[in-house]
Amino acid sequence: MQGNFWPDHIRRLIEQIGMEHPIIQAPMAGGPSTAELVASVSNSGALGFLGVGYLTPEQIDLEIRKVKELTNRPFGVNLFVPEISEAAKPSDKVLNCLQEFSNELGIDPPQMPGPPKYSFEDQLSVIIDHKVPVFSFTFGIPDKALIRDLIERDVFVIGTATCVEEGVLLEEAGCSAIVAQGSEAGGHRGTFGSTEGTPMIGGLALVPQLVDKVEIPVIASGGIMDGRGIAASVALGASTVQMGTAFLCCEEAGVPGPWLDSLLSSKDISTVLTRAFSGKYARGIKNRFIDEMSLLEDEIPNYPLQNSLTRSLRNASKDKGDSDFMSLWAGQGAAMSRKLTAQELVDALVSETYQVLKSIGTNL
Ligand SMILES: Cc1cc2nc3c(=O)[nH]c(=O)nc-3n(C[C@H](O)[C@H](O)[C@H](O)COP(=O)(O)O)c2cc1C
Repeated sequence: MQGNFWPDHIRRLIEQIGMEHPIIQAPMAGGPSTAELVASVSNSGALGFLGVGYLTPEQIDLEIRKVKELTNRPFGVNLFVPEISEAAKPSDKVLNCLQEFSNELGIDPPQMPGPPKYSFEDQLSVIIDHKVPVFSFTFGIPDKALIRDLIERDVFVIGTATCVEEGVLLEEAGCSAIVAQGSEAGGHRGTFGSTEGTPMIGGLALVPQLVDKVEIPVIASGGIMDGRGIAASVALGASTVQMGTAFLCCEEAGVPGPWLDSLLSSKDISTVLTRAFSGKYARGIKNRFIDEMSLLEDEIPNYPLQNSLTRSLRNASKDKGDSDFMSLWAGQGAAMSRKLTAQELVDALVSETYQVLKSIGTNL
């Protein structure tokens, strides 16, 4: 497919970032977006993205170095904006339940976390020092001065919105583009500014409403698994797409066996939104932990406390090769997952998009 085939707004964006195709591999913190995946995606002409929200500054430095060893192409790095949450205490029922699960796995009961040892600014300064060309964030908006500083350093800055209200705030804060995260999306909801709880707007409705309200490019995200989803996003006015679940089954992704098996055997109805693992709504494949914790839904403490309390369970479950207590994050399109290399997937996505747009009579 010729690079100049895209409409102007898409071409402008891919040229500005230095990509060949309007496809972004979503940052996926917690293991999946390995340096190998990120570099392979960027080498194939899309944009690879490291999700480093859970990593220390030293670990972030190491991951960025690994990517730089594997590619000269642009790539992105993503962080979580810290949330100010009131000091919470988990209920006895939640603690007892987590303790029972820990006993079953033969590990120590969950401990209350200590204060964080590094800040968002510490994490970001590593990204700045490495002159990473694209930076994105979720769960909030960093200080406007911080965003301005990044823009002045020629960083392309992307925020995450789950409703129009949040998209407008991101534009006002000076972002270069916005990820419109539909409710189909795998992983955590990026919600931060809605006055109406956690918005669950599907991408098909969210993308055009955001495109109508903001001047900066909108990146469609959630449930996009193949060329049909990319072509549909283009029709809705998106300037590019961000796909997470589609890349989880790539050879280079860091996805343990039980998670991979769940993805490859999933159905359209396999995923649910849950607060069970982290205290923040996230979409994943339903398993025993989600089922049993749903009985305590109202007592689960908010993110990040619940996330810390369940960490040892998730890790032990992974080490045992058992999916019962693992967070099997996946979007509603998981059943369309393909086991390919990143290069094969990007090639397939590009040629499918071209075929779809051609088949519906787009003048190529
Ligand atoms: C396993 C997994 C981890 C994710 N981690 C992050 C993350 O660290 N930062 C972020 O901004 N988005 C994260 N997301 C959300 C993606 O950016 C994106 O919104 C989502 O993958 C799109 O939906 P899809 O999975 O259906 O393609 C994650 C998604 C998944 C599936």
